[in-house]
Amino acid sequence: MSNSLFRTKNIDKILADAASNEEGHGSSLKRVLTVRDLTFFGIAAILGAGSFSSLGGAVFSGGPGVVILFLITAVACAFTAFCYSEFASRIPVAGSAYTYAYASFGELFAWIIGWALIMEYCIGNIYVSYSWSDYFTSFLNRIHVHVPEYLSTSYMEAKHAIQAGSTNNEVLAAWNNAPKIGSLRLIVDLPAFVINILITYLVYRGVKESRNFSNTMVVLKLLVVLLVIFVGGYIVFSHGLTLNWTPVNDAGIHSFMPNGFSGVMAAVSGVFFAYIGFDAVSVLAEESKNPQRDLPRGMILSLVICTIIYILLTLVLTGAVNYRHFEGVGDPLAFIFEPQNLNIGWMQFLVAICAVVAMTSVLLVFQMGQPRIWMSMSRDGLLPPIFQTIHPKFKTPSFSTIVTGMVVGIPIIFTDKTFVLDFTSIATLFAFVLVCGGVLLIPKREKQAGKFHIPFINSQFIFPIIIVGVLIALGVFVNGYFAHLFQFSLTAAESDNITKGIVPQQAEVVNKALHEAELTKLTLNVSTIIFWVVALVLSVLAFVKKYSLIPLLGLITCLYLLTGMTALNWAWFVSWLLIGLVIYFFYSRKHSILN
Ligand code: ALA
Repeated sequence: MSNSLFRTKNIDKILADAASNEEGHGSSLKRVLTVRDLTFFGIAAILGAGSFSSLGGAVFSGGPGVVILFLITAVACAFTAFCYSEFASRIPVAGSAYTYAYASFGELFAWIIGWALIMEYCIGNIYVSYSWSDYFTSFLNRIHVHVPEYLSTSYMEAKHAIQAGSTNNEVLAAWNNAPKIGSLRLIVDLPAFVINILITYLVYRGVKESRNFSNTMVVLKLLVVLLVIFVGGYIVFSHGLTLNWTPVNDAGIHSFMPNGFSGVMAAVSGVFFAYIGFDAVSVLAEESKNPQRDLPRGMILSLVICTIIYILLTLVLTGAVNYRHFEGVGDPLAFIFEPQNLNIGWMQFLVAICAVVAMTSVLLVFQMGQPRIWMSMSRDGLLPPIFQTIHPKFKTPSFSTIVTGMVVGIPIIFTDKTFVLDFTSIATLFAFVLVCGGVLLIPKREKQAGKFHIPFINSQFIFPIIIVGVLIALGVFVNGYFAHLFQFSLTAAESDNITKGIVPQQAEVVNKALHEAELTKLTLNVSTIIFWVVALVLSVLAFVKKYSLIPLLGLITCLYLLTGMTALNWAWFVSWLLIGLVIYFFYSRKHSILN
């Protein structure tokens, strides 16, 4: 066997291993899922905290123009879904992007992607758990059950808010009323912690029970989201609120993008997070009745449905209420129906209940996805054998499920929402980049009836024309685009704007804000320059190698979304990858079955 870092696993071998696991000792997973179940799983995973919670911050940052980012992200995800489908149709076994990378890029990349996916599934679920808790406690408040703030806020969120001089009453109450051990305040988001334990138990008990539970919740949340769109949309038009779609910005100009395109791009973590989940469908390959046919269908169908919903929701939200009012709003769908806004009490109540339901189903799907990836990694020898233990009665990956519960549950105690949102989005985008790149590298195959094939469109001329065309259009239509790209420090006008927005203007706070803005600008410009260089290199490669257009467009759009990440996001992500590499070189590489 090769000792190379890039040794790949043969696709026939992957399929044979999965088949022998299925036959051997009756220890396989049950094949029960149909295309409808898979689409439902997709929607269950996609529609959740992104639309019910992080949409508030996204809209505040980008205004109604955030619709454009939803479209760009939808395009990136659609291309990526095609790539996932191509892989899932060739390699219909559990493991998702990890297994796909193993067959195309080789072991090291497979490990890296498996490692990055922990961010998507586990860290993503931390964010969803926090959002779940926000809606759950506000629902309890509405029925006059009060949970003390120090038991429904995360410690880090409270600490950061206090340090930043927050006047938010809930945070102040959590900080001031918390019991103390010495100087340590006992602040913990208990509902987030408890829901994670319940979900872990459900997943441990088995996929069939979970499937029924999940399908019911998906129907419920679709109904409530549609109700928000219809009721909200009707009021926007009947009350003449459509002017809110072109609000006045700081410079006094009406604009669909009041904070410019940079304001829209600053929302990338929140918007991308809303789309994460369609790929989770692919980890259910071993539980699908007809994975070759149903996985791609389930993925693409769920993605299309959710994209339409997001665009309509964003328009309803930004029409119903001026975008500026969404600052710090963690429950935007309920918020628009509050008395000071559209003032429909029953909608506010209904949305709060359904948000809890919606996010429960997201938690469920992600909590099911992670153990299945670990199971695949363990079968390959990259993780200890215990990770592939399947429960004799429930037929679920029992040990991996419990570890997943711990990896989600323990950080709930010491992280906060913003951190986990950024971390999840950067790692998932990174995994998507590798999946699209992987499809470019795998060999072509003959068409087989009944199997999904990514349509082949030769990129030789189209891709370079698109890239050069966009560059020319930016140079011609966007005033000073290239000059701005190479301007790494803040201009006097930009500094002025930031300083003006800080009241009272304490020197320390102003300097910190200026420093942060400068770092953000530097990171954005450097990553955009790198992006264009990569795009030009890919254009040359497309011309020479005649790559398939769809995965190439998936790759380039995901790379573009990565330019919206901050320096801090990159620093954390790179540290995480380094830890993964240490584990790979000290354990996984030695124990790999390819060794
Ligand atoms: N897309 C999922 C959500 O919004 C992760 O909750």
